[in-house]
Amino acid sequence: MGASAVPVIAIDGPAASGKGTVAARVARALGFHLLDSGALYRLVALQAIRRGVPLDDAEALAGLARDLDVCFVAQRVELDGADATMAIRDEAVSEGASRVAVHPAVRAALLERQRAFRQPPGLVADGRDMGTVVFPDAGTKVFVTATPEARASRRQVQLAGRGVHADLRALLDEIRARDERDAGRAVAPLRPAGDAIVLDTTALTIEQATACVLDRYAQRAG
Ligand code: DC
Repeated sequence: MGASAVPVIAIDGPAASGKGTVAARVARALGFHLLDSGALYRLVALQAIRRGVPLDDAEALAGLARDLDVCFVAQRVELDGADATMAIRDEAVSEGASRVAVHPAVRAALLERQRAFRQPPGLVADGRDMGTVVFPDAGTKVFVTATPEARASRRQVQLAGRGVHADLRALLDEIRARDERDAGRAVAPLRPAGDAIVLDTTALTIEQATACVLDRYAQRAG
């Protein structure tokens, strides 16, 4: 099967919209591969912080992106052979990822690496530009969103689960700032593809949101 015949479900949307969890559940339900593209931007940011590369040095960052020695194993990710699963979720790395992602050279350096995840029997690709740039021919495109307030409160619950108390107001401000940067950048800004369905999860459970995506895929595949 040629790569373009392998089905892709593109799931895009803003931070804390629930898209990562939905993407993982859809992939599990269908037995598809999963691409967490945000993890790649996070890994570039982590590597830059570790090596002292400034987050505005596009060429040096693109070099790091090209040379990343990454291995995704089940739910974990390794960088240079060492576990980086927790390190890439750090707040400084989240912020850094959003900064390195504005550089066209970094995005270009990660393009083929992302496309290589398209393997039989299929791929669920989670990110910001899966349906618009990386897999424009994806048969199913979903833009998952929720109000900033709902997303901030989900993030608060998530952090509480890790024993971290975070102020709701501060989380809301961070989410708004990240949205603005992700949607306002010149290259591959966060926006729904013209042929994507928009799924507002503000009032939905994860199970309901997952079922919506699976229904959509079944309609397209049938
Ligand atoms: O989905 P995430 O929060 O792990 O993504 C981290 C950052 O990476 C996010 O702020 C924007 C960037 N990103 C991107 O620009 N394009 C993608 N396809 C995925 C993430």
